[in-house]
Amino acid sequence: MMNNKNALEPMIKTELPGPLGRAIIARDAAFASPSLIKEYALVADRGQGCFIDDVDGNRFLDMMAGIAVSSTGYAHPHVMGAVKEAIERVWHICGTDFYTEAYTRLMEKLGSYVPQMGQKKIFLANTGTEAIEGAMKLARYHTKRKGFMSFYGGFHGRTLGALSLTASKVKYRDHFGPFIPGVVHGKFPNPTDCPKGMTEEEFGLKAIEDIRRTIFDRVMAPTELAAIFVEPIQGEGGYVTPPLSFLKGLRELCDEEGILLVFDEIQSGVGRTGHMFAAEYFDVAPDIITSAKGLGSGLPIGAIIAKDSVMTWGRGTHGSTFGGNNVSCAAAVATLDVVETLLPEIRENGAYLSKRLKDLSTKHPVIADVRGPGFMIGMELRDPATGRPVPEMMAELEQIAFRKGLLLLGCGQSTIRFAPPLVCGKHEIDIAVRLLDASLSQIKA
Ligand SMILES: Cc1ncc(COP(=O)(O)O)c(C=O)c1O
Repeated sequence: MMNNKNALEPMIKTELPGPLGRAIIARDAAFASPSLIKEYALVADRGQGCFIDDVDGNRFLDMMAGIAVSSTGYAHPHVMGAVKEAIERVWHICGTDFYTEAYTRLMEKLGSYVPQMGQKKIFLANTGTEAIEGAMKLARYHTKRKGFMSFYGGFHGRTLGALSLTASKVKYRDHFGPFIPGVVHGKFPNPTDCPKGMTEEEFGLKAIEDIRRTIFDRVMAPTELAAIFVEPIQGEGGYVTPPLSFLKGLRELCDEEGILLVFDEIQSGVGRTGHMFAAEYFDVAPDIITSAKGLGSGLPIGAIIAKDSVMTWGRGTHGSTFGGNNVSCAAAVATLDVVETLLPEIRENGAYLSKRLKDLSTKHPVIADVRGPGFMIGMELRDPATGRPVPEMMAELEQIAFRKGLLLLGCGQSTIRFAPPLVCGKHEIDIAVRLLDASLSQIKA
């Protein structure tokens, strides 16, 4: 299958933002919700592969893919072709009530991944948060229990159910409560906190023991819990990969206590780890996977993928007007076609990017850690003298890199997430590392 890798280069030819960008930003300011973040002054006009042109004709290399969404890159011919064809046929019919071939095909594809889960049933939604809400409802419906557990550092969305699980930054929750009752949070074992003398695997098992001793013994009996929601690799919380023993331990805990294990793979899924889902990478089978972000290469679509034995809700109990929209389904089927063929390259190129970033840390000691599989790489920045996170420096780095034509995005306290389009090759990686090196040098100066 063709992919749209090419030998484009970043090119900055105006001040940033340029005059056309500035005019749009000024108009935007008049109406945009003040809740929007707007990391830097990128006014996107068109994209190709891993590159985005702004309205003033400046070209940027994108190492964040619109927050891990543009999985096949911009304007991938196979995805564009599928979308164009769907647009010409039928845009919408409501997948809750009627059928389209693309909806069925997408479910067939999603049902074929993570074979460890056995036979599956699938519900299609529009966004990540909608998939999480649906998974929460399904877990309650199926188990007849009400409680949920998730983890500090976890991000599961911004609607009130999903937000009740989210515990990555207080600004997401402040003033929005009360949240749904019956949600408890556990400690997510970040390997950088592993005490000396303890292996990472022991550290992962200790986190499981802490759940038993602190949550189950003191706060909520396991028989109250419908589901444990966990990002197998935390995204927004800082691109943190837990020890394998933690995820395996969660599986055992859930089996023992009749709790459903939900992997929120909204960020880690659709090839990002070099495997279709992180569940395959870790070889741990959850009961439910939630997906969204990269699934439609940028068209809105989400999914709840559940074991057949778990998706037991009855006719009419859950639905969605736009969920599984025909154009989004066509984009998702084509996206998965492409990603299926890219998996070995993602592993290889991801390892290459990781190595290049690790090499850079010898020159720039502010790079404290480079971690994560495939193209889900976190580069953590810390003050080399104090070991403390450096959020202001991270924000400055984003701005400097932007001015050099490199799009970066932070997460956690001061981690840069490298989540490029999955078609990113060595050409793009070499450019990214060169521009990153120059940007870091400028910060120090
Ligand atoms: C792991 C995870 N879950 C859920 C969400 C929410 O997805 P959406 O923004 O599509 O509602 C996100 C978004 O960043 C995410 O990273």
